[in-house]
Amino acid sequence: MSNAAKVKANMAPSSFDPLPTPMVRFETVTSSVRYHPSPMAHADILARLIALKDEIRRHDYLYYVKGRPEISDSQYDRLFRELIDLEHTNPELVTPDSPTQRVGAPPLESLSKVPHEQPMLSLDSIVDQEEVQAFNQRMTRELETPSVEYSAEPKFDGLSVELVYDYGMFTRGATRGDGTTGEDVTVNLRTIRSLPLQLQAQSGFPDHLVVRGEVYMRLDDFQALNRRITERGDDAFANPRNAASGSLRQLDSTITATRPLVVTCYEIMALSTPAPPTHWEELEQLARWGIPVPTHRRLCASIDDVMAFHRETESIRDRLLYEIDGVVVKVNRRDWQHRLGMKSRSPRWAIAYKFTPRKEITVVEDIVVSVGRTGTLTPVALLKPVEVGGVTISRATLHNADEVARKDIRIGDTVKVERAGDVIPAIAERVPIPDERRSVPFLMPDHCPMCGSNVGREGAYFYCTGQLVCGAQLKGAIEHFASKHALNIEGLGKKTVAQLVDEGLVRSLADLYRLTKEDLVRLEGFADRSATALVESIAGSKAVSLDRFLMGLGIRQVGQHIAKVLAREFTSLEEIMAADRERLLQIREIGPEISDSLVAYWSEPRNRDAIAQLQTLGLQIAPGLAKGDRMESLLAGKTFVFTGGLDHFTRDEAQRAVETAGARVASSVSKKTSYVVAGRDPGSKLDQARMLGVPILTEQEFGALIGEEKGKPS
Ligand code: IVH
Repeated sequence: MSNAAKVKANMAPSSFDPLPTPMVRFETVTSSVRYHPSPMAHADILARLIALKDEIRRHDYLYYVKGRPEISDSQYDRLFRELIDLEHTNPELVTPDSPTQRVGAPPLESLSKVPHEQPMLSLDSIVDQEEVQAFNQRMTRELETPSVEYSAEPKFDGLSVELVYDYGMFTRGATRGDGTTGEDVTVNLRTIRSLPLQLQAQSGFPDHLVVRGEVYMRLDDFQALNRRITERGDDAFANPRNAASGSLRQLDSTITATRPLVVTCYEIMALSTPAPPTHWEELEQLARWGIPVPTHRRLCASIDDVMAFHRETESIRDRLLYEIDGVVVKVNRRDWQHRLGMKSRSPRWAIAYKFTPRKEITVVEDIVVSVGRTGTLTPVALLKPVEVGGVTISRATLHNADEVARKDIRIGDTVKVERAGDVIPAIAERVPIPDERRSVPFLMPDHCPMCGSNVGREGAYFYCTGQLVCGAQLKGAIEHFASKHALNIEGLGKKTVAQLVDEGLVRSLADLYRLTKEDLVRLEGFADRSATALVESIAGSKAVSLDRFLMGLGIRQVGQHIAKVLAREFTSLEEIMAADRERLLQIREIGPEISDSLVAYWSEPRNRDAIAQLQTLGLQIAPGLAKGDRMESLLAGKTFVFTGGLDHFTRDEAQRAVETAGARVASSVSKKTSYVVAGRDPGSKLDQARMLGVPILTEQEFGALIGEEKGKPS
């Protein structure tokens, strides 16, 4: 990406008020040498560099923070190009605070943890007027004064950061983390154009300053970013907050540099010189140093002023270019803030006065049922299109049958729609009218709307039992069937499955065994050899053990472990298919949910047909367990809990080893736990194990038990 594009991607809003689309700058900034300096003395170069950097910094501030540029884009370009070229010929003079350094640094392995100088507290939040009054009463009572002056500003919906300036230079920045320790995102923060890399010096600056602010993304930038990444085939971010967080917590800061992040600061957390006496003056001081602060803010002489500010801010909320979810109200005087002190996690002197979530009224035109990849049926309300917070919404998930019943949503109802987390539409509530004027209650269908198979039920969730025959589930079913712990068909991964189904070569599981080399070579990415290899590995899967076959069917609740339990209990697939609920419930590890799921599965004739077809095509199901399951009898049904770090296994490998042995991994220790494996720096689970008398294994002992070479001491 060119410098120009990187820079453009980082346009910032310059003030709280809605802005026109930002103008385009840096049209032609490249690193090509267009500036031809005559030989300059070193001191002159240094002086010119300093002057250039100051000048560019000033224009960045005017443009990105103030929104009032003083020079044209091309004049700016010329300055920037001159700086690039001077630094290019004098690389030893490049400083980290140079405006050219905002393009990102080499990728990191991981984000390191940094302790905060001061704890980063959170805020208590309130939503209604009575609570605001109560807050004010608490303040006046505790401060023993008739009225308190407040400073009010927007509550930005982003992620909180700590920014450290030493001798005026931005030296470190971190995310909030758990409030005590955050992640070091310095290099990523450097790419944010509205964040000054150096403080403005007119009024002098402190040796040390720690400020807190919020990093967020504008809505239009967020939408454009999502378009960009979905076109590439990546998943969209759910909302601007996630997008900001994902972008800031990148290991590769050159990616962050392409993400349109902005920052606004709202607290001085530490200062080497005496702090201004009020929050209001604190913000003014920050602004003088060139740090962006909320421009929309109000000094409120009384709590009534605070409420007016809240009302007005809420009324312009939808016209703003970025998300805010309330107003933060702070006692203005800092000496009073100190007197009030704090609770364990939040200050007593400030409160987040949230907005009511956005809701709009519309009509349910229909309720349809969609079938997911794993067969779950989800009721979806089709709505008369309505705009909620700038987005047109025409569908809303009703989640599941219980939710529909609880909210009692029927076709024709008038409902209030909200954007939960401000992105995924949901029906908040129904606008009540007399029942006789409403349509009949919605009921989930008995048959899958996609394939007509019987519908099964697990609590509030309904699902299509035709795992092997349902079009909606076909890709997922084949992927699962072919996966490592099932039929283990090499070369049949997600991508190939999608190709086979999309090209119409595979319409059922049985079709897999009808594929020929000739079919495959026609597909993109296949050559003679790979086509032969896949046909062979499909053919090779025809001899399969009962447990793996059961696992491959994708019956709900029947994973690897239960498949093994069943394969041990019964000698053939036919026997399992014939077992009724009572028979299944006699098995120690099988409860009502698993047995119901099995019975529902076999009672769908099309599943039986699909299995019969596989057998006709040569699939041989051998009784018993797959080879390599010799540990089975010893460890079957046991429960392992891990604590601390392992040296010879990743957690995934350890879990797989345990499961292959017919045991399972649990996350907490109880009397029923069979073993606790204690690795490096074990946590409280080890103490619990000791207390409950649960056997404790070292990693080596675990390795020996599992019989894995890699677990043995090296
Ligand atoms: S002041 C000790 N001011 O809201 C005071 N926080 O729910 C600490 N936030 O974690 C926070 N805008 O990330 C403050 N103008 C603002 C804010 C703000 C957004 C966030 C902040 C905090 C969260 C608390």
